[in-house]
Amino acid sequence: MSAAVGIALTGSGAATPARVVTNGELSLWLDTSDAWICSRTGIAARRIAMAEDSLESLSSQAARQALERAGWRPDQVDLILLATSSPDDLFGSAPAVQAALGADNAVAFDLTAACSGFLFALITAAQYIRSGTYRRVLVVGADLLSRWVDWQDRRTCVLFGDGAGAVAMEAAPESWEGLLAMVMRTDGHRRSCLTMAHQATSQVLHDQLQVGSGGFQPIAMDGQEVYKFAVQQVPLVLTQALKQAGLTAEHLDWLLLHQANERILASVAQRLDIPAAKVLSNLKNYGNTSAATIPLMLHEAVAAQWIRPGHLIASSGFGAGLSWGAALLRWGRPEAA
Ligand code: UT7
Repeated sequence: MSAAVGIALTGSGAATPARVVTNGELSLWLDTSDAWICSRTGIAARRIAMAEDSLESLSSQAARQALERAGWRPDQVDLILLATSSPDDLFGSAPAVQAALGADNAVAFDLTAACSGFLFALITAAQYIRSGTYRRVLVVGADLLSRWVDWQDRRTCVLFGDGAGAVAMEAAPESWEGLLAMVMRTDGHRRSCLTMAHQATSQVLHDQLQVGSGGFQPIAMDGQEVYKFAVQQVPLVLTQALKQAGLTAEHLDWLLLHQANERILASVAQRLDIPAAKVLSNLKNYGNTSAATIPLMLHEAVAAQWIRPGHLIASSGFGAGLSWGAALLRWGRPEAA
């Protein structure tokens, strides 16, 4: 192990399925409307995975783009962290990303924390770099929740979309701090607010042995409770993160929240007195892509050069667990700032 090092965020990538499903299309079989979905959520359309799409392939595309933009070779990657709640394989989908990239020197594993997953993975990755254990980490956030919703439940299925995003994080000189502050929280007492739970049924193997079999239930959410939790807790962790770094909201270039609801973005920004022009949002086109929302939005803003090297970004993820957290990020590498 070497001495503590700085952290740089040096590349981003994103991938989404090609198929666009608009609010209007949903109303072909659901008792819903474009007006209801737009006004309550800000979502106009989402990308939905077809049978031939896979989480592993979207994750690999996003990760490859992040790696190329960072200017790394695949054999230089030390760690791949894949934040997802909807892997193609419950044993983990990160190894498939490693194989697809040819990142043969990297260890790769999944991390599950629902919509907070990407932020938690980013913070986890930083610990490996800070300690000197690894130098180059690909952090991927990806979910295909369309495979896990009840398509007859208008309260949930209209909210979610599919996608993957990735960030390349690497060791930097000690003076360069790409992760200035971090906060992570869990409240397991409120886990029933948002679930995708396994339901066991008894399977009789012989007269002395009944094992639990079964499958997963579709996503169930108490929307109002999760909404209240988000607008109360997200400003608190963001304020805590700013305090940790000795900064105020005025120092921020961007607010990058988990994209769950346009009204949540507006409420959090208002509580922190952050102008609407600094609030990043792509909910309209993608809906809630769970662990993918933050890196998808980040990549879009980096590719459009809204986010530039040296910019300060406050980010917060929140969702099932309940789990939530915040991070203050500085984009780019020292020489480019
Ligand atoms: O990513 C994890 C974090 N997730 C979140 O942060 C989600 C937080 N929650 C929310 O964003 C909002 O609570 C929702 C968008 C999920 C729901 O919005 P809401 O304003 O809280 O609506 P509601 O659940 O109170 O429902 C209001 C009405 C109900 O009708 P009644 O009982 O008042 O007659 C619903 O049945 O809207 C009805 N409704 C719909 N109507 C048309 C619910 N879903 C729909 C729909 N289309 N898709």
